[in-house]
Amino acid sequence: MNTSVRVSVVYHSVTGTVAEIAREIAEAAEKSGAEVRLRRVQEFPGLPEPADSAAAEIPCATVDDLLWADAIAMGSPTRFGNISAQLKHFLDSLGDAWRKGLLADKVYSAFTATSSKHGGQESTLLALITSFHHFGGVVVAPGYTRPEKFADGNPYGTAHCTQARTYPVDDATRKAAQVQAERFVKFAHAIKCAEQ
Ligand SMILES: Cc1cc2nc3c(=O)[nH]c(=O)nc-3n(C[C@H](O)[C@H](O)[C@H](O)COP(=O)(O)O)c2cc1C
Repeated sequence: MNTSVRVSVVYHSVTGTVAEIAREIAEAAEKSGAEVRLRRVQEFPGLPEPADSAAAEIPCATVDDLLWADAIAMGSPTRFGNISAQLKHFLDSLGDAWRKGLLADKVYSAFTATSSKHGGQESTLLALITSFHHFGGVVVAPGYTRPEKFADGNPYGTAHCTQARTYPVDDATRKAAQVQAERFVKFAHAIKCAEQ
């Protein structure tokens, strides 16, 4: 009986903030005992590749990365209070898997970054979470479940503001990412054990 949790962390990032949160979540999920795939979504043709030098080493996300996983954490920069077109393009490639019910019963969690305070973090996270509900996913938000969450302040998911806090991310954001990863791995593990 294999009850080790498989996690895919899928993100879009241009200037590296969301990528840094993604790496932190991936690392924390691994420390919680999960097998982890870190994946970026394909940049649109003609747009500059991510400034983040580590990005070139990270494979682009495919539908298989979601089918493989028990838990999926997805992150996007906030773009006009919403997710980026690049991440939406990836979500829109999932219609066939969704139709077959292959995205259901997995754990999902969301993260984002903005440049300004009140810049739309919650609306971006809720937009992502809306899609997770359509998949039939089990959404695991961090809530205010641990003291660290009162420092980062966002119960919907890890969210970093580059203008108000350190670039690329500060300790409060790293801690929030760790709390989020530990929490969704815990629930994914419980679901996997219950199913076997
Ligand atoms: C087209 C566009 C729209 C953006 N819209 C917002 C916004 O609504 N609110 C905000 O605070 N920041 C906004 N930003 C800034 C990004 O959310 C912010 O720089 C984020 O940290 C980028 O993430 P990344 O470093 O992972 O690329 C926008 C940036 C771009 C390019």
